[in-house]
Amino acid sequence: MTYSPTILVFDSGLGGLTVLREVVAARPDAHYVYVADDAFFPYGHHSEDEIIARVVPLMGELIRTHDPDLAVIACNTASTLVLSHLRAAYSLPFVGTVPAIKPACAQSKTRRVSVLGTKGTVKREYTKALIRDFALGCEVTLVGSPELASLAEADLSGHPISDDAILAELTPCFVGDPQDTGARTDIVVLACTHYPLLLDRLKRLAPWPVDWIDPAPAIARRVSDLLGTRLGDITQSGAEMIFTSNRAHGLSATLMPFFGGRVPA
Ligand code: DGL
Repeated sequence: MTYSPTILVFDSGLGGLTVLREVVAARPDAHYVYVADDAFFPYGHHSEDEIIARVVPLMGELIRTHDPDLAVIACNTASTLVLSHLRAAYSLPFVGTVPAIKPACAQSKTRRVSVLGTKGTVKREYTKALIRDFALGCEVTLVGSPELASLAEADLSGHPISDDAILAELTPCFVGDPQDTGARTDIVVLACTHYPLLLDRLKRLAPWPVDWIDPAPAIARRVSDLLGTRLGDITQSGAEMIFTSNRAHGLSATLMPFFGGRVPA
């Protein structure tokens, strides 16, 4: 017997692709439906009430249409707000993406950690609770970036973005004495799934070297554990890409690597 589970991966735009590629690598046997809610992008600019009112019913429609076995909310701005609402409303398992504050603080040697997220994510009570519970005495700097998700989106869509534009968003993450390796930020948490799309440039532009924490591999392990053992010998299943704006994306070649080499329908 063979069975290919369906995994719905949801984000406000293309950022969730950084989570998708890890999940696909962990579970190549699954069928993937990637949904970019680009009609409502960027989530970081919307109020909490607006995001709840948007995502909860939209997820209901997507569940009815695609009947997934599991849904990944590959968006910190949404996960830090709607996960409890989604779990109360729908019976399938949801895996969220929330700022990796706990592992970052456990790992920091200088006790200085920065969390780079959208303006929405850094304001959330959920994020503040993670700091209260897991900062372990570290000084945690919350940096709400107004534009970095849009810059990442533009970059992946082939529009040039300047180093200066990236640097303006990145600089507040670097705190402490630049000359003293023991008294400056040593870890930056990537608390928005769009940011790993720019990781090479973030590393190049950083005022000093730091460790960058991207929780995508941990999310992929969680998804795989929840799905359980693979049934049968399916090595690769299909993939779909949906934009809520219904725009024609014309990005198939760019998107293929995130889908493990599949061409998303
Ligand atoms: N990718 C989303 C996140 O992880 C946010 C981008 C947006 O502002 O829509 O937070």
